[in-house]
Amino acid sequence: MTHATQEMHQYYAGRAPYYDAVYLKPERQQDIAWLREHLPQRLAGREVLEVACGTGYWTQHIAPVAQHMVATDANAEPLAFARQRPGVQQVHFTLADAYALGPELGQFDAAFAGLWFSHVPLERQAEFLHGLHQRLKPGARVLMIDNSTVQLQDFPIAETDAAGNTYQHRALRDGSVHRVLKNFPTEAQLRTLLAPMAQGVQFRALDNFWMVEYELA
Ligand SMILES: C[S@@+](CC[C@H](N)C(=O)[O-])C[C@H]1O[C@@H](n2cnc3c(N)ncnc32)[C@H](O)[C@@H]1O
Repeated sequence: MTHATQEMHQYYAGRAPYYDAVYLKPERQQDIAWLREHLPQRLAGREVLEVACGTGYWTQHIAPVAQHMVATDANAEPLAFARQRPGVQQVHFTLADAYALGPELGQFDAAFAGLWFSHVPLERQAEFLHGLHQRLKPGARVLMIDNSTVQLQDFPIAETDAAGNTYQHRALRDGSVHRVLKNFPTEAQLRTLLAPMAQGVQFRALDNFWMVEYELA
């Protein structure tokens, strides 16, 4: 595990008990309400693999309409909260590194990742997607959502590395400060990245989030 990855793990482990505060921000309510309707609609009846599910905020909305759902995260702490959600009794929660999604997870006709892709270093984006796609059946549907640049008002970019990755310094309630890799891909960058592997790419910019949906080519 790289130092940056280790730091992010510690950060999300420490933040797990109050992570859900991000879903209470008043300025996000309209977008969240739309996503709570839209995401389950697009994943209904499917076998869904969720990557980096965290405390399971989106899992609880998708699981009731999914045919089958496996929700993964690299951290045990947020997963423990996810397991307590209402409506997730049928979900198989398991620890898994998003860069090493093994065949034991199964094969799926849909995938979802919420607020995860922004944490993938630029140089690992294609690797992550190829690994995810290996767990998917031909024509599978993939949905990802993430923060728009509005999030920078809370956490400005503190550093940029040689590869162009941007980092924020985030404080936890215990006072510890963590350096968190957080990229803000543009629609054009996502389209270029996805072009060789995806079809029917749809991008939607909400105020506080972006959403991309595509099917495996
Ligand atoms: C911003 S949270 C998103 C949680 C949830 N998907 C949501 O939308 O609320 C990012 C999550 O990524 C997880 N994570 C960090 N590194 C990971 C990795 N290499 N593989 C899988 N999950 C990872 C963290 O534990 C954390 O739960």
